[in-house]
Amino acid sequence: MRYLTVAMAKGRLAEKSLAMFERLGITCEEMKDKSSRKLIFTNEDLKMRFFLAKANDVPTYVEYGAADIGIVGRDTILEEGRKLYEVADLKIGKCRMCVCGPASAAEKLSHHELIRVATKYPNIAKDYFYNKKHQTVEIIKLNGSIELAPIVGLSEVIVDIVETGSTLRENGLVVLEEICPLSARMVVNQVSMKRENERIGKIIRGFQSFVQEENQ
Ligand code: PRP
Repeated sequence: MRYLTVAMAKGRLAEKSLAMFERLGITCEEMKDKSSRKLIFTNEDLKMRFFLAKANDVPTYVEYGAADIGIVGRDTILEEGRKLYEVADLKIGKCRMCVCGPASAAEKLSHHELIRVATKYPNIAKDYFYNKKHQTVEIIKLNGSIELAPIVGLSEVIVDIVETGSTLRENGLVVLEEICPLSARMVVNQVSMKRENERIGKIIRGFQSFVQEENQ
């Protein structure tokens, strides 16, 4: 039997999804050792392997088949635009992709002025402004602490994730427009889905029933 490989985005999401795998009887003791520098963890009995990667790289590993299954946020899936199947909404890590800025930017937005948009998600921002709103903007790619951009005058608005809204509040910014809801998803390589239909199908159905139970 070949190994079934699971790629998970590092961080909170990985911990929660490992707990879901555990409920399915798929354990990986090795992975719980936080001090370990090992990159890949194996469960020999089940012929399964798990690894943690930067969120943005998870769809890449899955598209190329280096991982059969991936667990990653919908923000990353949309941004990366890789060829893969999105098979389950895990309904964890719920948040929203929004256009945010100082309240005073609302007018510039509605008048379709040529504004600058700072974001970690240039593809999502492009798709929203160009394809959905038919509005020309200048997109500036940043790598973190996006809320700084309108404060220091790099851009008029930002496109970013809003979870509790406290980062915005503490920096005098507001949600101006909502782009889409986000949450963690399970994705599957398109060839693996056919070749390993039975094993992968079982995992998908298991996850789906947990999600259903928890969201009743
Ligand atoms: C994310 C996001 C916001 C914040 C939203 O940043 O970019 O800054 O969380 O959460 P809130 O609505 O609950 O305040 P993250 O902490 O992932 O770091 P980053 O600034 O490096 O993107």
